[in-house]
Amino acid sequence: MTGCCVIGLQWGDEAKGKLVDLLSPYYDVVVRFQGGANAGHTVVDGNQVYKLHLLPSGILHENVVNVIAPGVVINPATLIGEINSLKDRGVPVLKRLRISERSHLVMPWHIIEDRITNSKSVNGESIGTTNRGIGPCYRDKVGRVNAVRASDLLVLEGQDRVYEVAHEKRQFLSLIGATQSELLSVSDSSIASLLESWRNQLSSVIGDTTEFLLDSCERNLNLLFEGAQGALLDIDHGTFPFVTSSNSSGVGVSSGSGVPGRWINQIIGVCKAYSTRVGGGPFPTELTCDTGSRIREIGKEFGTTTGRPRRCGWFDAVAARYSARISGATHLSLMMMDVLSYFDELKICVAYDLDGKIVKQMPSNAVELRKCKPVYELFEGWKENVENTRRECDLPRRAKEYIGRIEELVGVPVGIVSVGPDRRQTIFTSNSPSLPKNKPTSV
Ligand code: IMP
Repeated sequence: MTGCCVIGLQWGDEAKGKLVDLLSPYYDVVVRFQGGANAGHTVVDGNQVYKLHLLPSGILHENVVNVIAPGVVINPATLIGEINSLKDRGVPVLKRLRISERSHLVMPWHIIEDRITNSKSVNGESIGTTNRGIGPCYRDKVGRVNAVRASDLLVLEGQDRVYEVAHEKRQFLSLIGATQSELLSVSDSSIASLLESWRNQLSSVIGDTTEFLLDSCERNLNLLFEGAQGALLDIDHGTFPFVTSSNSSGVGVSSGSGVPGRWINQIIGVCKAYSTRVGGGPFPTELTCDTGSRIREIGKEFGTTTGRPRRCGWFDAVAARYSARISGATHLSLMMMDVLSYFDELKICVAYDLDGKIVKQMPSNAVELRKCKPVYELFEGWKENVENTRRECDLPRRAKEYIGRIEELVGVPVGIVSVGPDRRQTIFTSNSPSLPKNKPTSV
């Protein structure tokens, strides 16, 4: 049995969706274990582009069960929209999907709370959330009394409780400045019609995914865990407070899915060949000059979920090494190598200058991290189009040197190199992760 995780090692948007889609046919089950519709995973198949926010990226493959596990926060309206739009394109989503009854629901009041609190700043800077209600929903999960879970859709007692929560939320929202139309959107009648529609459309696939996943492990099936966001946005281990509200590094896999570490033997850490970040927070290698804009234009670095321009910068090996270590990465997958083909000179950050002292570890404190100036190593660009390269040996020499240095600095071998958005634009190196060969035909 193989349990393999795909984890972002930067601040999200590392093109994990492409990788999960590519690896899915080798696995029986694909599992989303944290985050919610703040994620935006793009899957390209020939001239078809699929943008997924909540559905696991294995959903396009027959014979793959896709699980939304307890650690995910689900906005049912977004999920239903995604299911219907894939159905219209011929994908039988409900046949392939299971939703944990333990997962929590993002309710309309969470999105209103996110909108209102998003304007607040921490240390003079706003977190710049995706406004998808993620933080408020996780806050209610931890607080328990106002939480709503998928299982509440299945029983009358659960629904009655939702009205009690709605009553309390309306009082709270008027206090924090919600508009009249926002308050109307959480009236009892609005909530009643939402609950009915969600129950009708989702209840057939809500169940105990934890039992299902544990049984799958014991039956020697192969599981692929799909991380959302990236390790540097992890609530406990990221660049707090400029983080998301879940454990988005490798440490979140077991808590979010219910599958203990003993079943997981490969962790693929995904990074771009450069760095990006959306929203606020320190970003030592950020380029606010023309080079940053060129990376953004060539890499089409605009958010899948919010359309916001992403901040762009050079590869930060200090940050990537930290993320790889806390995530337990066994392999690296280096994405968007094709984007760097257009630059005369490339840089990799190998240390930080913090108040005149050279440090090789990421400070845990956002105030200190903001003061860090990158210490760079310079590389000549390869200036050759690599979009059609399919074998490691055919990569330009300078591209191989660039990859080799990243391996050394991060301390993990590069097993996969991506040279374009399509599934075929992928190079499996001599260090590639092992893929399960004997895939059973049915689960
Ligand atoms: P939230 O997850 O919407 O609360 O946003 C918290 C921070 O995480 C903000 O800086 C967002 O821009 C960032 N973030 C959340 N999800 C993603 C993602 O999927 N990719 C990149 N950044 C994200």
